[in-house]
Amino acid sequence: MGKKAALLITRKLSANTEVRAAHDYEALLNPQDRLYSADELLEKCQNVDAVLPCHSELFTAELVAQLPDRVRIIANHSVGIDHCDLSALREKGIVVTNTPDVLSDATVEIAMLLLLGAARRASEGDQMVRTGKWAHWSPSFMVGTQMTGKRIGIVGMGRVGQVMAKRARGFDMEVNYYNRNRLSPNQEQGAVYHDSIESLLSVSDFLSLHCPATPETTGFLTEEKIALLPDGAIVVNTARGALIDENALIGALKSGKIAGAGLDVYASEPGGNPEFATLDNVFLLPHIGSATFETRDAMGFRALDNLDAFFAGKEPGDRIA
Ligand code: DGY
Repeated sequence: MGKKAALLITRKLSANTEVRAAHDYEALLNPQDRLYSADELLEKCQNVDAVLPCHSELFTAELVAQLPDRVRIIANHSVGIDHCDLSALREKGIVVTNTPDVLSDATVEIAMLLLLGAARRASEGDQMVRTGKWAHWSPSFMVGTQMTGKRIGIVGMGRVGQVMAKRARGFDMEVNYYNRNRLSPNQEQGAVYHDSIESLLSVSDFLSLHCPATPETTGFLTEEKIALLPDGAIVVNTARGALIDENALIGALKSGKIAGAGLDVYASEPGGNPEFATLDNVFLLPHIGSATFETRDAMGFRALDNLDAFFAGKEPGDRIA
């Protein structure tokens, strides 16, 4: 049996993933789960054949240019790859993979939680009970927006968007979507296709974002676009914070144009935008869409499957560069 490939795993992954990685590779683990600086990351990459990073490690053009030739593959433990400068990696001949499919269910569970949390004022209610300020009840108390039977607009009808549509149908919602390409009738399952984002926004009582952050989609939800939503819409984001102009969203939440927002992702992470925390009508989570035991194992195994294929001389199933 040949020498095992040396693999840098940048963060603490699920125990099952680390056991498998240590069995099949010369695995360099991070048991303390420290976030490496760019310099540390570069230094750790010096003597490895492969890297298994998360979205928290930035492979900028500057860093990629300094990677040693020995590094041949970046097998991401994420579906999003906006932390990787793909053209720099391609130019350097480094293969890049991601982990699609396996996190769709977990991410949509969080999207549904955010939709419900924002619509039914969960943060406000939780705070009230938790801080001992719940001193009154009446039929006009804490009235929210009902999801059942409403129109949902899904931006990005890929794997996650399609699971979102399925779950929304469970709430008898009318599913509308915008996607670069229209889906087949079989995939659409009756969902209404919009050939422009503007058209989708105008019917979105609830809006859920499921597209990747790319130069084309970055900051697309501007003040002008928000103005197209029905008054009192609910906006949810489990994709990437970069999709939203956060100042515009904060303005719309303050004016009531948007009744509530549920956010799992922010323009700046970790930490998020502290101004959201000053608002009652937001339901906030710390980028945990895929954070379930089942999905963490599945993501780790998917990344290892890609590495195994690569080192066996085959095409990795989830190659994106
Ligand atoms: C992803 O897979 O892109 C999630 O955001 C977690 O990194």
